[in-house]
Amino acid sequence: METRVRGKVSLPSEAPSYSVPDACTVVIFGASGDLTARKLIPALYALGAQGLLPRYFSIVGVARRDLGQDGFRREMRKAVEQFSRLGPIRSEVWDPLAEAIHYLAASFDDPEGYVKLRDLLARIDQTVGTSGDRLFYLATPPTAYAGIGRLLGEAGLASPGGEGWTRIIIEKPFGRDLESARGLNRQVLEVFREDQVYRIDHYLGKETVQNILAFRFGNSIFEPLWDRRYVDHVQITVAEDLGVAGRGGYYDSSGALRDMVQNHLLQLLSLVAMEPPASFEAEAIRDEKVKLLHAIRPTPRQTVAERTFRGQYTKGIVGERTVVGYREEAGVRPESTTETYVALKLTIENWRWAGVPFYLRTGKALPKRITEVTIQFREPPLLLFEHGAHAGHQGPDDLEPNRLSLRIQPDEGIALRIGLKPPGERISLVPVLMDFSYREGFGGESPEAYERLLLDCMRGDSTLFIRGDEVEAAWVPVTSILEGWQGLDVKALESYPAGTWGPQSAEAFIRRDGRQWARF
Ligand code: BG6
Repeated sequence: METRVRGKVSLPSEAPSYSVPDACTVVIFGASGDLTARKLIPALYALGAQGLLPRYFSIVGVARRDLGQDGFRREMRKAVEQFSRLGPIRSEVWDPLAEAIHYLAASFDDPEGYVKLRDLLARIDQTVGTSGDRLFYLATPPTAYAGIGRLLGEAGLASPGGEGWTRIIIEKPFGRDLESARGLNRQVLEVFREDQVYRIDHYLGKETVQNILAFRFGNSIFEPLWDRRYVDHVQITVAEDLGVAGRGGYYDSSGALRDMVQNHLLQLLSLVAMEPPASFEAEAIRDEKVKLLHAIRPTPRQTVAERTFRGQYTKGIVGERTVVGYREEAGVRPESTTETYVALKLTIENWRWAGVPFYLRTGKALPKRITEVTIQFREPPLLLFEHGAHAGHQGPDDLEPNRLSLRIQPDEGIALRIGLKPPGERISLVPVLMDFSYREGFGGESPEAYERLLLDCMRGDSTLFIRGDEVEAAWVPVTSILEGWQGLDVKALESYPAGTWGPQSAEAFIRRDGRQWARF
């Protein structure tokens, strides 16, 4: 039996809002792609709707297709109609934004295109008054990143001099393993300074992810418990109900470990486990995250089979939808052994966390979409009270330890499970839940991650972006697993019907340690 206690929050009437960036141009490479339509243009539209775009502002879409400026504007309008979180498009927001949109048809590897881009940007600076401040967004396939960086440099667009700033946002995946990530860093940093490079992980733009640090370091009651003396283990779950959703080609060469763990799950882990930073400045926070990532023990080859678990979905039903098996998805090889589910046990070798396992799992085509960090505390040293079965409420194994759940999405919130005495003569314990819901407490809807990240980049705040050494540090434990997998039989990959919580053995994976996955 769990009881819910919900909180309402009264915010100060003048809730602090974001500051508006200075005049600039956003250049999107890969403008005809999915990310631009689903995320980037709707995010820029939402910033416009909130009055957060600079007064002098323009967007240049660059892609190979010969769409023409009007064609591109029309497509982007459709994208906003389809994907904006703000409901029906408002012409007083869209019209000025559409006016600011330009399009350049060019191939990413053709130097001529960059000369045209330079001329176009110079013209825009003069006519719109954007004063040379530029943000290049690489929303292209990753194989194009290094080449675009080099050609921007050769065209004199990487550091045009004068007063203006130039920044570059690079999408994930940043490399395929440690070596390729190092190589990409080297190539990018031959052209740009580190402080110009914004490596994106959109999880950092989510409000609830930012709240992890606020929660930990803005309250005095949790941090003293936040270590090996009181924490039994930590779980991080990122479950998705969708399959590969039309991205079979990319996904099949990537898999869940590269696609989700190297970035999103390890970012969540580093925020949950890092030491307090000296300040809330970008470098101080990123220094601590890097230290934590370095403390994750790479998985030795001989233990990879026992510390990791892989699955792949077959045909099944998720909610009311029938989902085809992974190997039947467009773009996926029929004999593919790419994992769509992965579970890992990681350990962190530092004083705070020695001996505390961190269990990570993520998968596609699971029963629901949920991202949660669960901190499970140790049991009391001595049980003085009846619980569960004796108290008549639970089964014999159901003494439930204290558990703190940070619900990242979609029902954002924080819940603490504690044991309380129900009314009655006897002293016994039942678990109850103190549960804070963002929606109920703060009202409204959180902004999309890309809104916050685009805004931060335009303002020059890199706190929520990944530094070069950080992306490499995150590849270290992941690469050790990838290497270990190479030596394993592919039979190590088990299948699970879409719509289930992964293969049966995923339960055994954690139960071996006497623990259980959180249930949702
Ligand atoms: C992306 C992955 O980075 O994150 C996708 O490439 C995944 O495979 C997505 O679906 C999940 O993001 P979100 O914000 O929906 O949890």
